Amino acid sequence: ARTVQRGADGVVTVGGIRVTALAEEFGTPAYFLDEEDFRARCRAWAHAFGKDADVFYAGKAFLSKAVVKWLKEEGLNLDVCSGGELSTALAAGMPAERIAFHGNNKSADEITRAIGAGVGRIVLDSFQEIARVAHTARELGVVQPVQIRVTVGVEAHTHEFIATAHEDQKFGIAVGDGSAAEAVRRALGHDSLELLGLHSHIGSQIFDMAGFEVSAKRVVRLLAAVRDEHGVELPEIDLGGGLGIAYTSGDDPSEPQDIAKSLHEIVTRECESAGLRVPRISVEPGRAIVGPTAFTLYEVGTIKPLEGLRTYVSVDGGMSDNIRTALYDAEYSIALVSRTSDAEPVLVRVVGKHCESGDIVVKDAFLPADLAPGDLLAVPATGAYCRSMASNYNHALRPPVVAVRDGAARVIVRRETEEDLLRLDLG
Ligand code: LLP
Repeated sequence: ARTVQRGADGVVTVGGIRVTALAEEFGTPAYFLDEEDFRARCRAWAHAFGKDADVFYAGKAFLSKAVVKWLKEEGLNLDVCSGGELSTALAAGMPAERIAFHGNNKSADEITRAIGAGVGRIVLDSFQEIARVAHTARELGVVQPVQIRVTVGVEAHTHEFIATAHEDQKFGIAVGDGSAAEAVRRALGHDSLELLGLHSHIGSQIFDMAGFEVSAKRVVRLLAAVRDEHGVELPEIDLGGGLGIAYTSGDDPSEPQDIAKSLHEIVTRECESAGLRVPRISVEPGRAIVGPTAFTLYEVGTIKPLEGLRTYVSVDGGMSDNIRTALYDAEYSIALVSRTSDAEPVLVRVVGKHCESGDIVVKDAFLPADLAPGDLLAVPATGAYCRSMASNYNHALRPPVVAVRDGAARVIVRRETEEDLLRLDLG
């Protein structure tokens, strides 16, 4: 978050509010999101891509009604990938035509609801889905705008579970073996579908621009092949999300202007050489917008020094509010924020309170030797894929998300209560 500062007394403030006051008012663990930073990042993306492009925020990173309202006000569109995300978007008043609906296994109900709501595009992910969406649109008497998600065969250099454009995975329709060309044939053959263009998403937390460039090139080449075969120039391409953010000081992310510039250049160059009109480009950043805007605040509980091994510092959350360390070996940093300390920094492992030894918050952290129960620790860059992947493991109560702006803090997603848990349990 951009408005984080350490005050003269050593207490960190966010948006002008002391974290000690935040902990007192909202409890820990909790996510604190800098609303001004979120809005600034939306504007940076919209500005970088300009009027001839569209930015769709990927709701899977973190979605709530307040977020939808901010997106709406900042002129962004929204990518949703489930009926639940669609409901949140519509409930918060996102115009349906600004929503893209994704998913590799959309249910019949989701397809019907998306078409019925009038979403701006459905991104088709398989041959079966082309037929299903075409059928449902026909039944509802509408012509549904769609894109086809293609897999361009790029190996994005990221964790295997979040790389998505190599061929052996569940998303999209392969370009390499002619399947994507066949998908285009089928989509064009349905009167109830309006094929807007092609979509490619190559993975997530990517720093190397080369993958995006190869992907853009291959998508444009497919546009040219479509023009050659069918005599139609599809008006849109979507190049997905995936831009990495800094979790630790070793990460060096690109700025939206750089990615916009390089994508525009590649697409323009490829289109010129193929004699194509330049299509309207869209992108779907999730992490790059919301990730850096929030941090998680924890309170230190038990500290257990293991002679000759290491010290385990336990906090009051863990894998239920941030599964990414356990799931992807993700790296985070952590800092003491409720005071300063002159004590020497020592290497510790920060762990959660769950009944599992993989419940690690930060594997190797340097924290002051005088760290004590009651101290507050903050983990930065937890805005993306933390609250949205949070669980009730061990019947943990999922933490609130608190938006901070201009010296005011407001709960946008409240903390779960034990009544919330018991309400679902019918005995
Ligand atoms: N568009 C599509 C079609 C996607 O599948 C995704 C992410 C995005 C956009 C947004 O990608 P982003 O800009 O946020 O990287 N849970 C994982 C990340 C999974 C990403 C899935 N798809 C994690 O915590 O790293």
